[in-house]
Amino acid sequence: MVKKIPGNGSHVFEKSAVTEFDAKKHRAKINRHSINFDRVVMATNNPLVGLDSIIGATLLQTKLFLYTSYVLGARLPSDTVPEALFWDTREPYDYLRIDRYRGFDYLLYGGEDHKTGTKKDTKRAYARLYARLKKIIPKARVDHRWSGQIISTPDGLPYIGENAEHQFIATGYCGNGITFGTVAAMMARDWATGRKNPWTDLFAVDRKKIKGATWNYLRENKDYPYYMIKDRLARPEADSVRELKRGDGMVIGSRRKKVAVFRDRNANLHKLSPVCPHLGCHVRWNPAESTWDCPCHGSRFKPTGEVIAGPAEEALALI
Ligand code: FES
Repeated sequence: MVKKIPGNGSHVFEKSAVTEFDAKKHRAKINRHSINFDRVVMATNNPLVGLDSIIGATLLQTKLFLYTSYVLGARLPSDTVPEALFWDTREPYDYLRIDRYRGFDYLLYGGEDHKTGTKKDTKRAYARLYARLKKIIPKARVDHRWSGQIISTPDGLPYIGENAEHQFIATGYCGNGITFGTVAAMMARDWATGRKNPWTDLFAVDRKKIKGATWNYLRENKDYPYYMIKDRLARPEADSVRELKRGDGMVIGSRRKKVAVFRDRNANLHKLSPVCPHLGCHVRWNPAESTWDCPCHGSRFKPTGEVIAGPAEEALALI
């Protein structure tokens, strides 16, 4: 694709995160440079505010629910499992996918989904998955594990389309990113070239309610006030860093003054404000992934505070 872009006013920039949008001048600030644009396609999983208003972006966020899902990768003797997608009927459900290779099959076994930032002992999710996998497929040899974020919506369909003048977003794939990501690319092309697209109304960001969606919307949005109040009133995990091991993080201090502290491999301490820059909830340490996760809308931060995943767009403040 890059080879097909002529360079005559069209360029591809890597490692160039936009830090500021000027909606009036149609300009974006990137690495101390400015780039003029006509249109913006926000393909960032969770959309940045960009050209939208803060109110518009906040309302959109109330329709996006960020879940963490855990996956194990394992080798299997060929043809142990039929080539198919499997889900079970538990809540949360487990899923299984097979990838055939010459001489062996590779299996992805995942599940244990929960709202990001709401579980403390995230390492146990892998242990439970592992135990279930070994029970149903004892020959599986696990060699990888990871977690990822899935963005769900109240009605199970993504939001793909214009959410502000000159801005196109694509988000809320509900775990079907390969399919909806492809759909979004086709729709973004049509949007940019002024072509009509048959799916515009179906995936519209401001689409009207679909049956059953209101209940999901209310149920998922109770987390914001709940964790906002709970974490403010809760005691921190410890009053000092005495117990904090290398490579670990912990919220310490007193009820009135909490500090998120990470002790790196060289025993240096990194002290941060636990207040999430999105809407002010308190982050928690995720021991399986070594990140700070926010239970309110799912923002994630590196141990040293930089943003990994929105809706937050700024780092945790240094103390
Ligand atoms: S308060 Fe919204 S993600 Fe943290």
